[in-house]
Amino acid sequence: MAVEEAKSHCVVLIPSPFTGHITPMLQLAYVLHAKGFSIVINHSELNPPDTSNHPEFTFFPLKDGLSNRDPSFSNLFNIIPEMNTNCRGPFRQYLVEMMEEKTELYGKISCIVYDHLMYFVNEVADHLKLPSILLRPSSCAYMEAVCAFFQLRAENHFPLPESQLLDPVPKVPVLRFKDLPFALTSEIPEHVLKLLEKVADLGSSVAIIWNTMGDLENRALSWLQQYYQVPIFTIGPLHKMASSSLTSLAEEDANCISWLDTQAPNSVLYVSLGSIVVMDENELIETAWGLFNSNRPFLWVVRSSNDLPDGYLEAVGDRGRIVKWAPQKEVLAHPAIGGFWSHCGWNSTLESILEGVPMICRPCFGDQNVNARYLTHVWKVGLELGTDDLTRGVVERAIRKLMVEEEGEELRLRIHDMKQKLQMSFRDGGSSRNSLKSLTEFMSSL
Ligand code: UDX
Repeated sequence: MAVEEAKSHCVVLIPSPFTGHITPMLQLAYVLHAKGFSIVINHSELNPPDTSNHPEFTFFPLKDGLSNRDPSFSNLFNIIPEMNTNCRGPFRQYLVEMMEEKTELYGKISCIVYDHLMYFVNEVADHLKLPSILLRPSSCAYMEAVCAFFQLRAENHFPLPESQLLDPVPKVPVLRFKDLPFALTSEIPEHVLKLLEKVADLGSSVAIIWNTMGDLENRALSWLQQYYQVPIFTIGPLHKMASSSLTSLAEEDANCISWLDTQAPNSVLYVSLGSIVVMDENELIETAWGLFNSNRPFLWVVRSSNDLPDGYLEAVGDRGRIVKWAPQKEVLAHPAIGGFWSHCGWNSTLESILEGVPMICRPCFGDQNVNARYLTHVWKVGLELGTDDLTRGVVERAIRKLMVEEEGEELRLRIHDMKQKLQMSFRDGGSSRNSLKSLTEFMSSL
């Protein structure tokens, strides 16, 4: 489609308000804007984007009354259903007004693209006879695991005895039962199951956009194509496809980059657990001393630094930097970075792979378990740190293995090789570029 033709078309985007979700949605907005679509973003009042960073888009907050809520992990299963209930009315009203009054301003609505946590959108779009497309900000492997979980549950496999946790999952043998996204040895609460069902469900959406690469997730993608029976467009990694990197919700501490400039190539370990996971007090202390005892330079993101041991910062001195929020993509691209200790959120996983940085994998919940298993046992570019209680000795040994020993060097070479191959995907003629072309044609035909 020519850019002029697309300009008469508008795409309405509905991100969910969590950093790991709103970031790929904003990146998608840039990708579609560059193809000529006008962009309207309807967002929750919780964690709103900084609209001044994106003057090319129109933003409209949905009055959901959630602006004061704490979006940490323990609250997620309450906040998400509430958000879906509260946003439905305001969103419908906004769309009706837009269709009646604002077509000249933004163009005809081509379609609505929504994050898979904002499932209320599908119902509203149906009601107004507008096509909707689902954005999946997680890996294909994760959704395949969710589907496998529901199938096994229907066959009464759960609750599972502890002794079977290390057994391979039938139909997805690369995963062990313990890698599935949920605790399987006890009953899962009904409200959690309901939410997962809603997230896995496609409703009447006409297609799926996936922030992944066909070249990376070919097998799981083929399975999902059979399962969902609608076109799937794999146009990731969105952070490389988009023209803007101004998508961070928190203020980035850029000083760490000048400190990295003073460090030797491949010498620094970067430690970050994304935007939701928090370490408990004991884990934080053991990690702190493990990092210290490893004798390697490190850059550590601690979103709340109150609980660091007394005198720790003085003891570390110039060998480490602790920040509340780092410019992560820039950090991972820095030549001084030799390893990434991560919770294996999907954005962090893609960002690390695409910069060729080997990982220490310490998943915490949900999709992170699946991503960690792929990193350590399928792609073989990460070390498994497991999910048991951490001790400073375990931390120190893992860091040495990754940063100093031969095993770490092998992972580094392998992920470098992977990066070289995968970066073809988002270059001209690559699989993600081709998929994006098909997506824009598809959207314009709706
Ligand atoms: C959440 C879920 O926890 C994750 O499992 C899911 O895959 C996506 O949604 P989050 O935990 O925040 O995301 O992790 P991740 O997906 O890795 O996203 C974090 C984002 O924040 C990344 O884009 C990363 O670059 C950015 N970040 C993180 C920073 O910019 N600075 C930091 O200091 C830390």
